[in-house]
This record gives sequence, C-alpha cells and structure tokens, in this order.
Amino acid sequence: MFVDLLLGLQWGDEGKGKIVDAIAKDYSIIARFQGGPNAGHTIKFGNKSHVLHTIPSGIFHKNLINVIGNGVVIDPIIFKQEILKLNESDIDFKNKLLISKKAHLIIPTHCILDQASEKSKGIKKIGSTLKGIGPTYMDKTGRNGIRVGDLFEEGWKSQYIKLKNKHLNMINNLNVDISFSLDEMEEKFFKSLDFIKKFSIIDSENFLFDSLKGEKKILAEGAQGSMLDIDFGTYPYVTSSNTTAAGACNGLGVPPTKINKVIGIFKAYTTRVGSGPFPSEIHDEIGKKISKVGHEFGATTGRARRCGWLDLVSLKYAVDINGVSELAMMKSDVMSGISKIKICTSYKQFNEETSRMPFSLNTSCLHPAYTEFDGWSEDITNIRNESQLPTNLKKYISFIEKNLEVPIKIISIGPRRDQTIYL
Ligand code: GDP
Ligand code: IMO
Ligand code: MG
Repeated sequence: MFVDLLLGLQWGDEGKGKIVDAIAKDYSIIARFQGGPNAGHTIKFGNKSHVLHTIPSGIFHKNLINVIGNGVVIDPIIFKQEILKLNESDIDFKNKLLISKKAHLIIPTHCILDQASEKSKGIKKIGSTLKGIGPTYMDKTGRNGIRVGDLFEEGWKSQYIKLKNKHLNMINNLNVDISFSLDEMEEKFFKSLDFIKKFSIIDSENFLFDSLKGEKKILAEGAQGSMLDIDFGTYPYVTSSNTTAAGACNGLGVPPTKINKVIGIFKAYTTRVGSGPFPSEIHDEIGKKISKVGHEFGATTGRARRCGWLDLVSLKYAVDINGVSELAMMKSDVMSGISKIKICTSYKQFNEETSRMPFSLNTSCLHPAYTEFDGWSEDITNIRNESQLPTNLKKYISFIEKNLEVPIKIISIGPRRDQTIYL
C-alpha cells in the first residue's frame, strides 16, 4: 500500500499528537521517524490528557501497530518513565509497540554535554530542551553512536565507556560551571536498558517493507517542525534531525515512491519555544492573550512559547520543501475575540520586499509586512460543521489556501479528538 506523512510546518507544537490520534483509525501502522524526547505530543480524549515524547501517537488505538523508527533517538530513562505512566491505560506494548534495532541511544553524558554546550554559548544558546538530542545525532553521524540493537551484541559496553570518556573530556574542555551526578544517572540508565530490552526490538525497515506489500496503510509521524529542520530551518537555531518529508524516508527506510499524502499541520498563528529569529513575533498584549488562551507552554520543558501572527513566507517555504498535499489548521478557536488579525505575507529587508525565505532571518534588518483581517468573536469550540464557521474565519481560511495553493482539509477548534472539523 502506501505511506502518508504528517509533519509540522512551523517551529513545532502545531498539534501533531492530536491529529495523529484523531486520524489514526484510517491506518494500520503509525511510525515516528526522527527526533527524540525533545518532542512532546499531547493527546486529549475523555477527561484525560497524555503527553508522549518517544512513543508514537497511535498508541491509544487498540488495533494499531506503533513503530519507533531508526531515525529516532531514544533515551531509555525517559522511555521507561513514559511506559510506566501509560501502564494504567492497559496497552499491549509487547505486540503493539515495535522499536527499530537501528535507533540510536541517548546516554547520560549526551545530556550533560548538551547542557555544557548550551552554557558555553552564553546568550547565543539554542534554547535546547537539554535532552541530549544534538550530541546523540553528532555521534550518529560521527559513527560513534550506540544503537538499540547493539545492546544484544558483544562489545557495546567498551564502546559505551569510550563514548562516555570522550564526552567527559569535551565537557571538561568547555570549562563551564555545571553540576551533575553521573553515578546516579548511570544507575538509572542501566536499569532502563534492562527494561527496554524486553520490548519488541526489530529490523523495522523490513517490517515496514512487508507491511507495504500487504494491505497496510502507514502514517509517518513527524516531530518538531520544518523551521527546526537541520538543513532548511533557521540554522543554527534548529534541532539536529531532518524534520521535513525526506526525513521520513531516511528515518523509516521507506522509499520515496511509496509516499502518498503529505499532511502539513500549522497553527492559525505561530509559536516558537527556545531562541532564534521569529519575524512575526507579537510583543504586545495580543501576544500575551494568545499565549494565555492557547495555553502556550512547552509540553516537554514547561517553558513559555513565544507567540506571533501566522507567517505565510515561512509556511509557503515549508509547503514547497515538504510537497504538502493537504493542510490541517490548528487552534483556530484561540483566535476568537481578536478584533483585527494579521497575516505576514512578505518580509522587507534593506528596502527590498520578498515573499521567499531569505538565507538569514536577522530580525534587526528584516521586517514583516502584514495583511490585516477582521476577526470573529464567536466561541467556535462546539461547532462540528464547516457551514457554521464564522464568515470572517472562512475568509481567513480561503486567503491562506489561495496563497499556499494547497487545500485545508482539517480545522481544529479545541484540543479534544471530537473538536475536529473535516472539510
Ligand atoms: P505537538 O508537539 O505538535 O503534538 O503539539 P503539542 O502537544 O506540543 O502542543 C499543542 C497543544 O495544543 C496541546 O496542548 C494540545 O492539547 C493543544 N491543541 C491541539 N489542537 C488544539 C486546538 O485546535 N485548539 C486548542 N485550544 N488547543 C489545541
Ligand atoms: P514537538 O515534536 C517545539 C526546539 C527547542 C530548541 C531547538 C533545539 O513537540 O513539536 P533540541 O532539544 O532539539 O536541541 O532543541 O528546537 N524544539 C522544539 N520546539 N516543539 C518541539 O517538538 C521541539 N523539539 C525541539 O526548543 O529551540
Ligand atoms: Mg510539542
């Protein structure tokens, strides 16, 4: 059969978890392809809320298989905590959660190195989640990493010691003041390795090839967002993996010819957590209002997310890079009650106006140009039919579709599964 992709088009936290969970019933397999526990994907149904970091967002559907692909980096300590938290949900992890042998492991000194590296950067810090993501992908591409499958082979412990010592030297060289208790971290780490080894650890690419030969539909779940992509994001203020469509082929081992739909997901406004340029950031009361109404606090770190207007320049760039075939617009309900809503349609830089993404987004000389819209005041959280949407919201939707040249197929009007309108 085929693989559909679901990807964040902004700086992450678009609502990927909610939509994967909402559309999961149309698939047989949900597969995460990159990132690690820097991700926090929130799923709400009934009166419960779950935040997933490593586990794919299809896990609450009994008939589905969930795959953690080779492109993901796994922290066994966080993985164990995540599983134990879900235990009351009566999930058959042994049969429903498969882990790639080729996924790389985050070891304790990766996290310490992340912290030391951030501290050494001072005000230029990336604003990392400090989950060890950058150092782990560095060791993967540097050909020093340890994979989940290595745990079943001879010799991985000496590789671990070599890697740990390399990290300790690097941390020492950075010469920053950080405190950590490696013994304690290692004790937890080794216990968590015993835990993870009991799961189904497989050649997930082969499992996916076989599934594609049969009648299985796969949904590949992205983490982070296109503007955090290591190649196409706002470098260096990015994460360390390819969050864009091609990352799904690498991170799962599925061929590009098997990709069918690419579902791009974005908020009706923009948020960013961590440092880095954000041209359409709002610095006044409206920004504070969006933050409050949208509960814009990180699902992984609890940090306040910066809020801004929708940015069609970066969104169009993300649509092009990913080959987005349909869109999902999230958190439309948060915009209710804002009398004038803006959309950034171009950037002005040195007296020149452009609607293409520039090489650098240095906001001291780059200014967003906006188109203004009349807002809507109605509470839309209980609407279940497109025809009932306020006229001004419909105008907002058509303007975005016209500019991006891609249809919006999902409007999300609240965090719960049922607060989703399919167009
Ligand atoms: P993800 O990382 O892309 O999965 O997104 P997060 O879970 O980090 O952040 C999205 C937040 O918005 C979560 O708290 C969701 O419960 C919430 N959410 C998702 N869709 C909507 C929506 O349409 N309206 C509102 N108000 N909240 C939403
Ligand atoms: P989900 O999947 C939002 C951001 C961090 C930081 C930068 C690098 O929930 O959308 P890293 O920990 O990767 O070294 O951090 O990327 N970041 C995210 N922002 N949502 C995420 O994931 C993120 N994962 C990383 O805040 O700016
Ligand atoms: Mg998130």
